Amino acid sequence: MTPGSGRLAGRFIALGVTGSISAYKAVELLRLLQAEGADVQVLMSLSAARFAAPLAFEALSRHAVESDVLALLPDGRIGHIVIADAADAVVVAPATAHWMAAMAAGMAGDVITATCLATTAAVVVAPAMDGEMYAHPATRANLARLRDGFGYRIVEPEVGPLASGQVGIGRLAAASAIVDGVVAAVQGRPIRNPDPAARPAAAHPKREADLEGRHIVVTAGGTAEPIDPVRFIGNRSTGRMGVAVAEAALDRGARVTLIAGMTSVALPSAAHLVHAESGAAMRAGLLETLHAADGGAGFDALVMAAAVADFRPAEPSPTKLSRGEALALRLEPTPDILAEVGRLARGLDNAGQPTGRPLWPRPVLVGFAAEAGSLARASGKLEAKGLDLLVANDIAEAGSGFGTDTNRVTIYRPGAEPEAWPLLAKREVADRLLDRVASALDERDAGMQTGGIREESVR
Ligand code: CTP
Repeated sequence: MTPGSGRLAGRFIALGVTGSISAYKAVELLRLLQAEGADVQVLMSLSAARFAAPLAFEALSRHAVESDVLALLPDGRIGHIVIADAADAVVVAPATAHWMAAMAAGMAGDVITATCLATTAAVVVAPAMDGEMYAHPATRANLARLRDGFGYRIVEPEVGPLASGQVGIGRLAAASAIVDGVVAAVQGRPIRNPDPAARPAAAHPKREADLEGRHIVVTAGGTAEPIDPVRFIGNRSTGRMGVAVAEAALDRGARVTLIAGMTSVALPSAAHLVHAESGAAMRAGLLETLHAADGGAGFDALVMAAAVADFRPAEPSPTKLSRGEALALRLEPTPDILAEVGRLARGLDNAGQPTGRPLWPRPVLVGFAAEAGSLARASGKLEAKGLDLLVANDIAEAGSGFGTDTNRVTIYRPGAEPEAWPLLAKREVADRLLDRVASALDERDAGMQTGGIREESVR
């Protein structure tokens, strides 16, 4: 099931795991919640972490496990409050007798009770304990208080063999029954907060340093085409996608040149930054990187994420235009920078004539295409611009446009079926894209060793 479908699609579910021997069963529960489309954040009590490894939950949930009520998220926000505010439901499974007692008393000493106290989301509790403990009047009273006093949904434990060796009531309910409880608890409630920025940030699975020794050039942001010294024609690009690619490439060991147009996000200081506001400046900056000092290709890959203007004022005024009658601007088309680099890489001039000097080794070229309503023109752009990869997105779709933290893209490659990726954080799109770039570079190098593409070279 994809993240876009399932009974919990788009939901953010907090899964609280407390210190029962059945804590390991919460791993299966986590998988089932995800299979229903939920984004799951795990909270563990300190004793739960002695029964089941937080790393397993972290790796599967893609969120750092919260276990310290005093802990702050890396961005400084208070973890359990962010979770309490964003969660559609908090499900506590397994819930121990001790945890239920603390919760019934309203004690906020652990991260799970604190989250339940701080949330207005639905709370689902699946107890698990020894049969005598479950039957004790204290436990019965606490359970009744959670259900009747607080409105929590209880998923009753089952009868069966218990950890003590006895047979009785107290086994954690089946994971599927707990999922049904969560689905019923959120039914009819709107998704509380679909914005990933309102949730704890996703942990990025660490990629190996597979771009070490590579030089990656990334363009990011929009361009500003001058009307006069003060005004310009711009666009809504913020540079988020390009900056995510630059950061991901740096994290994987690459040397990165970031050619930044108009951006509204922080730029990574570890990159070599080239500021280029207009399309012409971006073209000049890029052409300068094309050849290395030794005459070889100046970079291994180009990721052209910038939104370059397709038109610019034909005669920008050298002085500030003053207010007057209606103003008509004549626009001229801008050169297609990426198509030009594509030609130069293959050793062609702008008229398509061989220059006898292709870029060597041939760099991997990645383009972007922001389409409105349909991706029908995307594969044509791949071919026309001579690209290895084209990342197309439909800017008309929610969560995929300018200024969002997410993107739903389709990947085009020559001779391959288009590949539609689910809605992902831009950083995850960047990492998956770099997976492709890294393997394309490895294939290129393997081809060079066997002479596979050497005939293209004149060196
Ligand atoms: N691009 C470029 N130079 C331009 C315009 C676009 O290098 N003057 C690059 C973009 O950075 C992007 C790719 O080309 O990587 C596709 O851009 P897009 O605007 O979608 O394509 P166009 O060829 O301009 O087609 P159209 O605007 O007609 O959709």
